[in-house]
Amino acid sequence: MSSERLGRTLRAALATGLLWAANAGMAEDIGPSGRASPKSSPPSAAASDDVTQAYRGPRSGWPAAQVDAGVRWEELSPRPALPAVPATLVTLGEQLFFDPRLSRDRTLSCASCHAPHLGFSDGRRLALGQDAQAGPRNTPHLMGVAFVPQLMWDGRAADLESQALMPIANPVEMAMDLQALQQRLARETDYPRRFKDVFGDDAVTLSRLGKALAAFERRIEAPRTRFDDFIEGQTAALSDQEIRGLHLFRTKARCMNCHSGPQFTQHEFHQIGMSALGRRLQDLGRQGTTGRPEDAGAFRTPSLRGIARTAPYFHNGITPTLRGVLESYNAGMPQPPKNAQGLMAIPPSPLIRPIQLNARELQDLEAFLRTL
Ligand code: HEC
Ligand code: HEC
Repeated sequence: MSSERLGRTLRAALATGLLWAANAGMAEDIGPSGRASPKSSPPSAAASDDVTQAYRGPRSGWPAAQVDAGVRWEELSPRPALPAVPATLVTLGEQLFFDPRLSRDRTLSCASCHAPHLGFSDGRRLALGQDAQAGPRNTPHLMGVAFVPQLMWDGRAADLESQALMPIANPVEMAMDLQALQQRLARETDYPRRFKDVFGDDAVTLSRLGKALAAFERRIEAPRTRFDDFIEGQTAALSDQEIRGLHLFRTKARCMNCHSGPQFTQHEFHQIGMSALGRRLQDLGRQGTTGRPEDAGAFRTPSLRGIARTAPYFHNGITPTLRGVLESYNAGMPQPPKNAQGLMAIPPSPLIRPIQLNARELQDLEAFLRTL
């Protein structure tokens, strides 16, 4: 095991350990009934039993989702099949994805930042590129990336084919001149022969590189979980606690306003108060792509499939744990200070509001997210 990977594993273990410690501390918190409620106790109120039962039946009998007027949303549903892609193209794309010869110093592959054991993300706060340069954003995971219509946190890439060349050329990522790359691969590798098998002739072109990498990426999906069994009709697959979390997700916690449908996102852009607008670390996000002032600080709503394995969270990787994410939503996200001016005065989306979950509800919601 490389020392880098060992470091990551240790960090991941540490993060999980800390989370366990936090949860253990919570177990004696006061539950909704006012009595101390151990973590694994069944829901005390009869009403909550009824709700749990409703989720054990067909989806048509679920309690109504609570979504604000005018919001575009879809019910949660089974994951769609991945698009069909020619197997030879996928194999070639896989080889390229793991090949460090795509970077200037031959040290970084796509997988250096999009590591399979971390849901094709990197476990770091910010991406680490050629010459150990830190990029400005957190590396997104690639599970289900076939379904993302506009790629990157700010939506600036229209498809996987064109996206694939961006990190190669990016000076703080793989820092490789694209013309030089074609020559390197044509002269020094066996790609010409591989390209001939797949495309019919041995020309190593950028558009073929993009096609092969995109084909491989379209086949990446979150591993199947108990949530898949549950949503496909095996309703005993989730525990009562996880079902209570699902119910909160669809109602009081307001998550369905943005994270709905089979991918837990409508792929829309929202400013949720994490963009440090008007401060030193501000990131204008979507505005950098559209030029529209109303897009300042907006980022794409990410899918929540496989979310337990892709810490740290948000476009800037600022939040190390899922619990931390939930506590931020619970408090209604950072709000502009009183008398703030200019960019600093822009409030988060009106869909963001304090949700006032108690300690037990936060645990239930987290337990649900961990099933995705
Ligand atoms: C140095 C780390 C690094 C390397 C190497 C890297 N990426 Fe990324 N990748 C990132 C970061 C950071 C982002 C987000 C950038 C942004 O939104 O501004 C990203 C975004 C993406 C996305 C968009 C995902 C989404 O949900 O929008 C895809 C697809 C992707 N990378 C594929 C690749 C491929 C293919 C390669 C290799 C050719 C690669 N990456 C190499 C760090 C990296
Ligand atoms: C107003 C729309 C909106 C609502 C409501 C909302 N989210 Fe989000 N969520 C987003 C956006 C946009 C991001 C990315 C923001 C960023 O990185 O700056 C995000 C990011 C996240 C992330 C981090 C994902 C990652 O890959 O880093 C998690 C986890 C998450 N949301 C869970 C939830 C949960 C749970 C709820 C309900 C309590 C919720 N969200 C409510 C829009 C929303």
